Amino acid sequence: EIYHDYFFDEPAFNTHDGGYVPLEIADAPEKPLAIPARLKPDKETDTDIWYTVTAQAGETPILPGKKTKTWGYNASILGQTIVYPVGKHIHVALENHLPELTTFHWHGLIVSGPYVDGGCHAPVYPGETKHIDFTLDQPAATTWLHAHPCPSTAEQVWHGLATMVLVTDDHINSLPLPHHYGVDDIPLVLQDRRFHEDNQLDYHADYDPDGVQGPTALINGTVNPVFDVTTQKLRLRILDGANRREWRLHFSDDLKFAQIAGDSSLLPEPVYMDHLMLTCAERAEIVVDFAGYHEGQTVTLFSDDVPILKFRIHQFAADNTTLPDHLLTINKPEVDPKTPVRKIEMSGMDEAVMLDGKKFSMQRIDATQPVGQSQYWDITNTNEKDSGMVHPFHVHGTEFLVISRNGHAPYPNEHGFKDTVGVNPGETVRLLVRFDLPGVYMYHCHIIEHEDGGMMAQIQTYEPGKPMPKYKLMDMDTL
Ligand code: C2O
Ligand code: CU
Ligand code: CU
Repeated sequence: EIYHDYFFDEPAFNTHDGGYVPLEIADAPEKPLAIPARLKPDKETDTDIWYTVTAQAGETPILPGKKTKTWGYNASILGQTIVYPVGKHIHVALENHLPELTTFHWHGLIVSGPYVDGGCHAPVYPGETKHIDFTLDQPAATTWLHAHPCPSTAEQVWHGLATMVLVTDDHINSLPLPHHYGVDDIPLVLQDRRFHEDNQLDYHADYDPDGVQGPTALINGTVNPVFDVTTQKLRLRILDGANRREWRLHFSDDLKFAQIAGDSSLLPEPVYMDHLMLTCAERAEIVVDFAGYHEGQTVTLFSDDVPILKFRIHQFAADNTTLPDHLLTINKPEVDPKTPVRKIEMSGMDEAVMLDGKKFSMQRIDATQPVGQSQYWDITNTNEKDSGMVHPFHVHGTEFLVISRNGHAPYPNEHGFKDTVGVNPGETVRLLVRFDLPGVYMYHCHIIEHEDGGMMAQIQTYEPGKPMPKYKLMDMDTL
């Protein structure tokens, strides 16, 4: 079976409101797609790895003419790709070379909150270095690192503070999937920006409380990129790294592809499709087979009808490997029928966005949940069906399963673990949520201006039978 649609409710596509900024065909020469370098560990043993991640300011040649002032992690924009093998003890030095405080949030990692998780309670001040360490026990996944200071997450991400974090394990390494980073295993960070005079960004000039957008697509920070295909198959690790924009992706000739992974794990089996929509912060890994093409041809990736990335086909050796029919066994945890269903409501648009009828407060714990207990969370988007937005709901420190959408089966490509799920207006999405580590974790809309605007709350998880620890929660004035 090959799926031909985007699954989401079409009237909710984020194209209808007056503030929407359509993508435009880039008026810039073609450029090779930037492939972020892999971050070299400072040191590595059989059991441990040490990294230094530096948030820094720089200048990036993006458009012809003046360079653009940008921020990045160990790079002038976005960052180097970080690889974390499951099971190793990981030590990270977090350095802030920026002129303002930032935080280092590991979106998709199961690490303890609120400090290691790097949400808004874990500031690193300018000139400061902080040290964290953790060991991952989660499936291999494409996750990411981004800034998360409250309430300027959106502006810092707009400047470039976002990079890929690849979690690897023996299982995924043993599967016949493209594994050569930068050759046939390619990260794709999808973003959009508007460039002002002298090719500079101006977040405040472009501000929109429903999410800042620009007409120019950037893939890994490259405008009008071309990738040279030298293998028959490519694995693309796609991240919607935009502040607000949804991406509706399809290739020229409606070339079909297989989605093999979602946010937080492989899918149980490959899902064959020719259209894919991602909402903010969601990830998809797809495998594209160029068997039907030959040297000199070009395959184009579009979002809606705007070309955003070209694949230039070179000679490649025939590759007869087939994708396994089975990729990952997912054991759905049991939910005790006596456990109440947690109801969460995302409401409003513009400045009126709220979570459970409230704006976020850094010092308020909105909910509690014992670690190890599986619960159903019913996430409702109360926006009007025809004029509302899809709100991407994200939870820190966990990976959840999507159980149903308005009582119906989740979309075919939502059967793996996820940490972000797009909720259509008027829809209730049921999740199965379990935390493994005690701590304080944020949950919020991942349209980043909605998050900064208060569509966010926090939950404290605890070990039953033990005293509830007190965490030091920051406040806007103590930052
Ligand atoms: Cu991508 Cu609160 O995070
Ligand atoms: Cu997160
Ligand atoms: Cu939202």
